[in-house]
Amino acid sequence: MTRARIIGTGQYLPPKILTNHDLAQMVDTTDEWIQQRTGIRQRHVAEEGAGSSDLGAEAARAAIASAGIDAADIDCLICCTMTSDYLFPSAACLIQHKVGAKRAAAFDVNAACSGFIYALSIADAYIRAGMHKTVLIVGADLMTNRLSWDRRDTAILFGDGAGAVLLRADDGDRGLLMTHTAADGGFHELLYLPAGGSKQVIRCDNVDGLDLGIVMSGRDLFKKAVNAFGAAAQKALDDTGFTIDDIALFVPHQANTRIIYSVAERLSIPREKVFVNIDRVANTVAATIPIALDDAVKEGRLNAGDLVLLVAFGAGLTWGSAMVRW
Ligand SMILES: CC(C)(COP(=O)(O)OP(=O)(O)OC[C@H]1O[C@@H](n2cnc3c(N)ncnc32)[C@H](O)[C@@H]1OP(=O)(O)O)[C@@H](O)C(=O)NCCC(=O)NCCS
Repeated sequence: MTRARIIGTGQYLPPKILTNHDLAQMVDTTDEWIQQRTGIRQRHVAEEGAGSSDLGAEAARAAIASAGIDAADIDCLICCTMTSDYLFPSAACLIQHKVGAKRAAAFDVNAACSGFIYALSIADAYIRAGMHKTVLIVGADLMTNRLSWDRRDTAILFGDGAGAVLLRADDGDRGLLMTHTAADGGFHELLYLPAGGSKQVIRCDNVDGLDLGIVMSGRDLFKKAVNAFGAAAQKALDDTGFTIDDIALFVPHQANTRIIYSVAERLSIPREKVFVNIDRVANTVAATIPIALDDAVKEGRLNAGDLVLLVAFGAGLTWGSAMVRW
């Protein structure tokens, strides 16, 4: 049976770091409040003028190098992002050009913080159907330049970054065992950016009247996230027949340590099996899981044959899970 196996990982975090203490100079908040409520200590910030595709291309190059393949071997490049450089064309097309993936089809997927799981499910279907052999997924989001620093609920949560994985068709036992994607658009107003799309176009003559900030109902979102994370993780276990004891590593979307540990407790996942890097990286939207996977590889926490459970939740609302035999 053909499976999509992860053959390389990579990441890029811009060098500039904004600590909670730095943030407290700009926003009415404290390091203690942020750490207690979210687990975040710092976030990376892209340089002025950079776009998500610049971060994504760096992560893509690292994943291609770690897989030891030629960029021209890539059949398809999917960028999961909700902060593409332009409304069009896609960030994927820009990354395709930057890394020299000349033969690759390229498109973006926007499922907010669940984007990486959605992209995995697409790549998995392509590979199992025999349409593509080698697929590069890049999660890239640049949030700090669109945060309103007077909105302390959202200003503290996000960072910039990109992560990438290379998947290749493989006839062995390793690779993606299942993916699950779900959505409920009825709750889209719990987290959204009203202006800048087709409904509230930004023009010179209307910009003063627009609300350009991110709107978030933190508490409601928190409850939805815990439930959706739990349901998505359970679905992955039910579909594959594995139990928590079989799982070597649980890699959740990094939104908030309180969400992550509530879910882990609910599912009886011991803390040593939960991957957390939100303290250093914050919420990088669609990039959190591929960055976490690359960190886990570099820290020696993933060995061939390990079962890895990935779970995400985000604006939309969207959520999903994947089970991988590493
Ligand atoms: C945003 C979040 C950290 C806020 O934590 P919370 O415990 O729910 O806090 P609340 O919103 O109830 O606010 C509690 C108080 O803290 C204040 N507060 C909010 N942000 C603050 C900040 N950055 N610093 C200090 N105080 C803050 C509020 O104004 C409120 O004050 P009040 O009681 O005087 O009105 C939390 O709701 C959360 O993480 N939600 C999920 C967000 C998320 O993950 N989004 C991405 C999804 S992928």
